[in-house]
Amino acid sequence: MAKVVKTIGVLTSGGDAPGMNAAIRAVVRTAIHEGLKVKGIMRGYAGLLSEEIVDMDSTSVSDIMHRGGTILYTARCMEFTTPEGQELGAEICRKHGIDGIVVIGGDGSFRGAGKLAALGINTIGVPGTIDLDIACSEYTIGFDTAVNTAMEAIDKVRDTSTSHERCSIIEVMGRNAGYIALWCGFANGAEDILLPERYDGNEQALINRIIDNRKRGKKHNIIINAEGIGHSTSMARRIEAATGIETRATILGHMQRGGTPTCKDRVYASIMGAKAALLLAEGKSNRVVAYKNGAYVDFDIQEALSMKKDIPEDQYEIFKMLVR
Ligand code: ADP
Ligand code: F6P
Repeated sequence: MAKVVKTIGVLTSGGDAPGMNAAIRAVVRTAIHEGLKVKGIMRGYAGLLSEEIVDMDSTSVSDIMHRGGTILYTARCMEFTTPEGQELGAEICRKHGIDGIVVIGGDGSFRGAGKLAALGINTIGVPGTIDLDIACSEYTIGFDTAVNTAMEAIDKVRDTSTSHERCSIIEVMGRNAGYIALWCGFANGAEDILLPERYDGNEQALINRIIDNRKRGKKHNIIINAEGIGHSTSMARRIEAATGIETRATILGHMQRGGTPTCKDRVYASIMGAKAALLLAEGKSNRVVAYKNGAYVDFDIQEALSMKKDIPEDQYEIFKMLVR
């Protein structure tokens, strides 16, 4: 018999992502619609352990849809990775009458959610990360805004790169995943993309392509380097020395995580957040909401965490074909 859930908590954890506010709004309003009480847990698992817990109602989430970041703040919390921290978290939930939690975050956050579920607190994960690196889901909240922000920034770097006839290495986020780099590679018409999933470290081949591009009359040479490869500044120095072409590195950094969420992020976040609250209202636990094959579905957390995701080979091949 499914456990009856009366009060749920909602938290955001790990790196923030544009659209998290829309997800929070959807969780709160859906839960209220289902007759549940809602508490906001501030600063992810860190705020759970320090009992930063506030009552939320429908108006707590008014006027937040268009705002970047997360109104609940977010954090990374080492203490929660320990069994003692997790026991304390579950105990604090019970003390505050919280019998279900929606965790909006990435894989790490879901690992924490799985631990809470094992300790009797119903938990549902919602994929919120700009990295698009959650294997069970074809979409993660924040990706669309982040790639659009990066694309616009790269267009600007390209202008100056062309004027100066330079080579530019532009580093984008994504942790160990190359999705932001791949998408910007396409959208910005980059000459090269360096993806953690594919780059073989052959810098000489990269240098040869730059020299060849210059011989073919290209005025700029845009290389999108994924954060998982990194070292953009030293790479730029080596490329300049080897090619004689002035080379600059630009690390886009945290600007990619901010800003007004796109329509896509607001809509996916709203539906995923609502689905998560509905799952809790049905008494479900240890699930992750996902978008797969054109539908919103949910997976067991451990099953979701064991799934693997890779850059689609055909997309990578098409990128290379379009560059030449
Ligand atoms: P993301 O959720 O974006 O992948 P992190 O990997 O930084 O981000 O994880 C966010 C938080 O989730 C961590 O700071 C920690 O509190 C919690 N967490 C991560 N891994 C675990 C784990 N194995 N067990 C329990 N909690 C975890
Ligand atoms: O997971 C989102 C992300 O922005 C990654 O792309 C990046 O590696 C990481 O978070 C950066 O984290 P921090 O904000 O702690 O620098």
